[in-house]
Amino acid sequence: MIQRKNKRFLPYSKQNIDKSDIDSVLKVLKSNFITQGPEISNFEKNFAKYVGAKYAVACATGTAALHISCLALNLSSKSNVLTSPITFVASANCAEFIGANVDLVDIDESNHCMSAYELEKKLKKNKKIDLVIIVHMAGQSAEMEKIYKLKKKYKFKLIEDSCHALGGRYKQFKVGSCKFSDISTFSFHPVKPITTGEGGMVTTNNKEIYEKLILFRTHGITKNPRDFTSKKNSKDNNGNINRWYYEMLNLGYNYRLTDIQAILGKNQLTKLDKFTKERNKIAKRYDAAFKKNDLISILNVKPNTYHAYHLYTLLIDFKNLKKSRNEIMEKLASFNIGSQVLYIPIYHQPYYKKKYNFKIKNFKNSENYYQNALSIPIFFGLKKKEQDFIISKINSVISK
Ligand SMILES: Cc1ncc(COP(=O)(O)O)c(C=O)c1O
Repeated sequence: MIQRKNKRFLPYSKQNIDKSDIDSVLKVLKSNFITQGPEISNFEKNFAKYVGAKYAVACATGTAALHISCLALNLSSKSNVLTSPITFVASANCAEFIGANVDLVDIDESNHCMSAYELEKKLKKNKKIDLVIIVHMAGQSAEMEKIYKLKKKYKFKLIEDSCHALGGRYKQFKVGSCKFSDISTFSFHPVKPITTGEGGMVTTNNKEIYEKLILFRTHGITKNPRDFTSKKNSKDNNGNINRWYYEMLNLGYNYRLTDIQAILGKNQLTKLDKFTKERNKIAKRYDAAFKKNDLISILNVKPNTYHAYHLYTLLIDFKNLKKSRNEIMEKLASFNIGSQVLYIPIYHQPYYKKKYNFKIKNFKNSENYYQNALSIPIFFGLKKKEQDFIISKINSVISK
């Protein structure tokens, strides 16, 4: 048994910033444009190429990415939206921003993503569903082919909330390729697979959607003469476009990313495969170590997915353990081991509970997940010695 107290605090996830990242940011800081310069489109082009989508739109956060995605898909206050209860609140909030009606579909216990079976049950008995937002929970892709079949049959729009899953794959397709969806969204918060501090990205293969995303990201303003509605105001007496002219066509937002962030994202992207490989390696070591513990269940990864391992989550039999989750978290914290519950289901959040009166009994798998889940440290740069320390402390704390 390893006795020493771990030197540094080990959070459940964190960024990895090296000299090349710092140098890239300095380059932009010394340049003419620190925002709205060339690095935005450089990052977007590289990102689209990496995931295999036609278009990518960089924006301020993963939440902004979801919000402009809902707007670009013409969501309105009359729309009905379904998402998963086991996600960060932003996956539902994006529809609430627009005043749409939000409902939840229970998760599949085999991958903690929205259950295709439960989704079809809901689609069969519900009024028209306009949009489904699925979440690739922890970094493993949902069952996209099954969900795509339902999309075709019931004719809803589909957003993949891929904030956890950059670097992952479903079959041979990178998450973000939008092979089975209209839109895929990403976050670059420091705990995510790559970081820009705060930041987000939307990918799509649809030109019309792409053009709307661009508009909503910047106040609904266009400078493209093709889109101008007023010939009189946009042109001078010689018929030339006025150089200063712009039009606001929609109510949009300032959801722009800066060039300082974009170059960091572009540089981080070059290291993504290395990061993901390392996270998978750590997960394999954890799997082997925790499989032997009767009080812990680990997630079996589906053979048709490559997991991005944003999170590594244990399901712990707290009832049998006879220790509370909070006691375990406190104990681990005393060894400088961070842990987190991701997430408190959306139906437990006071805002949603009050507005929609969700019944816990309708979300059996989500509730079971919530009662038992604990995410433990996984990130590029977590040393082997530290992994061993985590394994040994968890196995000793979670034992009778
Ligand atoms: C699944 C999911 N969706 C959306 C978001 C929102 O991303 P951001 O924090 O960049 O706004 C997050 C981030 O926590 C997330 O985990």
